[in-house]
Amino acid sequence: MDNEKIRQEIQQLRRELQRHNDLYYRHASPVISDQEYDALERRLRELEHAHPELAADDSPTARVGADSDSRFPSLPHSRPMLSLANSYDPQEVEAFVERVRRDLGEEEVVFTVEPKIDGVALAVRYRNGMLDVALTRGDGRNGDVITDNVRTLKQVPERLGDRWRDAFGPSAPDTFEVRGEVYLGLKRFAQLNRMRAAEGLEPLANPRNATAGTLKTLDVGEVARRGLSAFFYQLFPLDEGAEDPDSHREEMRIIAGLGLPANPFLRVATDAAGIMAHLRKLQEMRDDLDYQIDGGVIKVDLRRQQELLGATAKAPRWGLAFKYPAAEAVTRLLDITLQVGRTGVITPVAELEPVLLAGTTVSRATLHNWDEMQRKDIRVGDTVVVVKGGDIIPKILRVLPENRTGDEQPLPPPTQCPVCGKPVRSDPDQVAIRCVNPFCPAVLAGRLRHFAGRDAADIEGLGGKWVEMFLDKGLVRAADDLFGLTREQLAVLPGWGEKSADRLLASIARAGRRPWSARIFSLGIPQVGVTTARTLARHYDSIDALMRATVDELAELPDIGPIVAEAITGQMANPDFRAFIENLKRSGYFHEKEELEALAGAAEDGPFAGKTVVLTGTLESMPRNRAKALIEAGGGKVTGSVSKSTDLVVAGAKAGSKLAKARELGVPVVDEEAFLTMTGQKDVADGPA
Ligand code: IVH
Repeated sequence: MDNEKIRQEIQQLRRELQRHNDLYYRHASPVISDQEYDALERRLRELEHAHPELAADDSPTARVGADSDSRFPSLPHSRPMLSLANSYDPQEVEAFVERVRRDLGEEEVVFTVEPKIDGVALAVRYRNGMLDVALTRGDGRNGDVITDNVRTLKQVPERLGDRWRDAFGPSAPDTFEVRGEVYLGLKRFAQLNRMRAAEGLEPLANPRNATAGTLKTLDVGEVARRGLSAFFYQLFPLDEGAEDPDSHREEMRIIAGLGLPANPFLRVATDAAGIMAHLRKLQEMRDDLDYQIDGGVIKVDLRRQQELLGATAKAPRWGLAFKYPAAEAVTRLLDITLQVGRTGVITPVAELEPVLLAGTTVSRATLHNWDEMQRKDIRVGDTVVVVKGGDIIPKILRVLPENRTGDEQPLPPPTQCPVCGKPVRSDPDQVAIRCVNPFCPAVLAGRLRHFAGRDAADIEGLGGKWVEMFLDKGLVRAADDLFGLTREQLAVLPGWGEKSADRLLASIARAGRRPWSARIFSLGIPQVGVTTARTLARHYDSIDALMRATVDELAELPDIGPIVAEAITGQMANPDFRAFIENLKRSGYFHEKEELEALAGAAEDGPFAGKTVVLTGTLESMPRNRAKALIEAGGGKVTGSVSKSTDLVVAGAKAGSKLAKARELGVPVVDEEAFLTMTGQKDVADGPA
């Protein structure tokens, strides 16, 4: 391969991995399996290794994926929160053991083996035996503050009581941090979905995504109701000069002694064969556990040796995640049904004979498109192998042609929309078949759902089956009709009353106050996802300005290429879409100038977006009115006294009663240094690796 080709492949891989990181960490909705992700990452690593001149600091191989979310304040981690190197191959376990021995220059190394919990990483700090702050991984350097949500977890005690000194012994540190994984138990997950079905709500797709979503919920009561669980596997003191536990086994002993959940499976081995035996045992136990694991974690036990081995920017050299291949099951493909999405794309869906796969029953799998179906030669009646890569929607890996009887039927691509019956069009470059009828009920429902979604206009009460009912009854056809709904119309609907009507109307009325970027996203412009909508919001200060944008101008913006630019201008030129926008303008959903918001310090993306903040004590680096201005520029509001509705307290030196009140109410508190970091006045200092 010539150099230019390699450069292109590297760039392509980086872009693709970045996109999958975003889907996984930010949107909790991965579209490929871990195994597929790891294969892409491995390929990129190989290319970068062979061509060091093409390496880059911001490559996904050098960075931990980010789950940062602007709705939560963020704080620097006490030490970077890294990831682990992955492997699927026993030979790599052997290579790992050899490398560790060689790097340490010691033959005698004790390794531990424990489950790799498929959940969401969490760091919790305790101060004087009391829960102080809880952070997500964020980008590995700064995490989002989710203390209030974590306080609702039954297994994460607010107060450690006597156990605290007992567990540590005489040298108990005043402050320490534990890290682990939050998850949703499988039984609890199934129970929640039964309750959701009874309420007409969409089911939660899988436990890991549900956990990520729950931790980022703004409604603390809802977090408590979900019933999350946790396992901790790391502990270190934060007191200056205090020493870390001597070994991983010791830290696990302290964690359990503190009354924090520690996984009971912790084995030791001194060679690769011993490690593999434990990993196999763990794999056998996998289906009997009440939580999902995606592999085992191998660690060097002694802290002294861990320190000698050190870490790369992304992962410690003392650990390795051995991942189990995606779970597979064999079943029969009973039928193929067609789903029509909001853009009109028709997706074939496999209806399967229900089969147990990695702890859940699978009865449907996506077939993506006809290209894919033809490539795999999938026919109705086939015996198929289904896989679930960790936590994504199951899919068909391959058919078993040896089981064919001759009666199996391939499904030809449709010529008519299965919902409205109008002729379809195939989209050669996107391998998609599309219903182009703008009034197709499936398309209308999809668009309305998109408009009402959490990242868009966030209209609660319009989820699940209600959209179809509204369309059926002719109450609405598109989102602009929502603004004309009345209490009288709604209150008489089956299952509705005045209360639910008022709730929906209030939620619709609030839509006009959603961040400018969320309102752009809500329009469902082809190719415009959350990230592109943010870019557009930063560069255009009103809907009129956006409607006037040209292809050349748009293509200049970061992350927008000619294809996306043309999709945007194409949509804007559509007369039906223009009429829709005019209606939304009349309803007050768009304002004369959104720039107020866009310019007043990027309120929506700011570190204090939507937060009520209290300043207390003396700040050393700036007068109080400057601190106030910084908070307001970051989208926050400053008030004088601490109450339950305070979101954050910034405590300077000699902070007194307000700080005490904040602690009592469990309001997150940051010190001056953290405040400077949040406001971008100071670079984040690197912690020890
Ligand atoms: S130790 C420096 N132990 O898997 C990171 N991690 O893919 C040390 N995880 O970032 C982490 N179970 O979020 C460790 N028993 C376990 C784990 C575990 C799950 C997660 C963790 C980590 C990720 C790496």
